[in-house]
Amino acid sequence: MICVPITASKVREAIKDIREASKIADLIELRLDLIKDVNENKLEKLLGSKKKKIIVTDRKKRLRLIEKAIELKAGFVDLDISMGEKTIKKIIKNKKNTKAIVSFNNFKETNKKEISNELKKIEKLKPDIIKIATFAECVNDNIIIFDLIRKNKDKKIIAMCMGEKGEPSRVLAPLFGSFLTFGSLKKGKESAPGQIEAKVLRDVYRIDKLKGKKVKIFGLVGNPVKYSKGFLVHNRAFEKLKLDGVYVNFLTDHLGNFIKNYSNLVSGLSVTIPFKREIIKYVDKTDPTAKDIGAVNTVVNAKGKLIGYNTDCIGAVKAIKEKTDIKNRKAVIIGAGGAARAIAYGIKEEKGKLIILNRTISKAEKLAKELGCEYGSLDKLGGIKNINILINATSIGMRPSVNESPVKNNKLLKEMVVFDTVYNPAMTKLLKDAKANGCKVINGVEMFINQAAAQFELFTGRKAPIGVMRAIMRETL
Ligand SMILES: NC(=O)c1ccc[n+]([C@@H]2O[C@H](COP(=O)([O-])OP(=O)(O)OC[C@H]3O[C@@H](n4cnc5c(N)ncnc54)[C@H](OP(=O)(O)O)[C@@H]3O)[C@@H](O)[C@H]2O)c1
Repeated sequence: MICVPITASKVREAIKDIREASKIADLIELRLDLIKDVNENKLEKLLGSKKKKIIVTDRKKRLRLIEKAIELKAGFVDLDISMGEKTIKKIIKNKKNTKAIVSFNNFKETNKKEISNELKKIEKLKPDIIKIATFAECVNDNIIIFDLIRKNKDKKIIAMCMGEKGEPSRVLAPLFGSFLTFGSLKKGKESAPGQIEAKVLRDVYRIDKLKGKKVKIFGLVGNPVKYSKGFLVHNRAFEKLKLDGVYVNFLTDHLGNFIKNYSNLVSGLSVTIPFKREIIKYVDKTDPTAKDIGAVNTVVNAKGKLIGYNTDCIGAVKAIKEKTDIKNRKAVIIGAGGAARAIAYGIKEEKGKLIILNRTISKAEKLAKELGCEYGSLDKLGGIKNINILINATSIGMRPSVNESPVKNNKLLKEMVVFDTVYNPAMTKLLKDAKANGCKVINGVEMFINQAAAQFELFTGRKAPIGVMRAIMRETL
């Protein structure tokens, strides 16, 4: 179930938002503490005909408003455990048909011991529903919440982590048995950090359709992850092929800890900045091409064994070959990270003449020596004559830094094909400058779709529905 919180600051606006929310929500949470002009008389108007669907919450803990909501036959009231046992007991005793949710919120951290203590206190009060919402400081905090839900299967429980690192729980908690998950009415109307839009929960993640243990969990592990479009592309492909799969973002600081906690839970992973090389030490086996490249962007969980693959290489080569031959062409790659490695390997395979430039020259040197090609620092670009293909394989120019380009001197961008691996935005500053100078340009979107399609095939063993994957990318860029 999806519950949409109403965060309006005026009664009139709240009534409008309730009307809007009832089109997408199973339940609606009315946050009285946010409505400045609310009083007992106006509460009746607010509850209106939707009262059975409404959870009345007042973080200001005004008893008279909660009692009025019960008198008006609101569907639910949310009672924060900090209201005190005596007060909560009294409300529960007189609640009639209204259901009582007793909740514990911690907006700073997820502390297993604290949750266990608060849960015991809540259970003693015998509410209809228990709610635990804590802030995720680390992606592994979601696991604490999933375990909590699983261990309390016999009770009605709502549990989630807040914050960007808590995003997996917002999507996956209902799969483990959470009574509901909160989704905002629209961007800017969130009642807590990390809340996903209700329409995204429904239309992209299909959380009302995914049920039970057979749903396979996939996701993107990296830092940052919030600008990635992978969740749109993969979830749309699962939907198209009617597969029980869901794909979420895992924002992670420590890859090792993430793998330790999630390897049993996930069926497959996309791996992004800055983990494409580090992941190799955590997989059980690396596919020979990925091993040669020295970077893994795809992990498949094959009956408990993690296998690493690289789909960036084919994705990029396919995108470049649509615009130009590679054989005997001089190709300069800016960057020496995971994406650069994959593309450099592909260009070598296609017999291009390769030069690698990187901010950290030792990394360029290492990669160049592995592949037997030239290398240098970024300032060497101006001195290289007759470049045919220039490739940006750094994150420079990626949202939000859209006014940055790895090539400071536009005059260098002449008579060449310029390929930017950055795909968000599709037209980076580098590509705009190159196009203005008459160069052919290739954006990162095609590479992204190609690599995601190859990844989807590894994840599922099914042919990727590339048409819908491309369409969703076009809709959102
Ligand atoms: N279109 C696609 O399908 C696709 C697929 C994969 C990746 N990508 C894109 O490729 C880019 C790189 O990803 P990755 O996985 O290779 O990341 P990575 O392994 O972390 O490597 C990052 C590279 O960018 C360089 N870099 C970062 N910030 C820089 C700055 N301010 N100035 C100069 N150099 C800088 C790093 O240089 P140092 O070595 O000096 O740190 C390194 O060479 C990202 O933008 C990613 O979105 C696109």
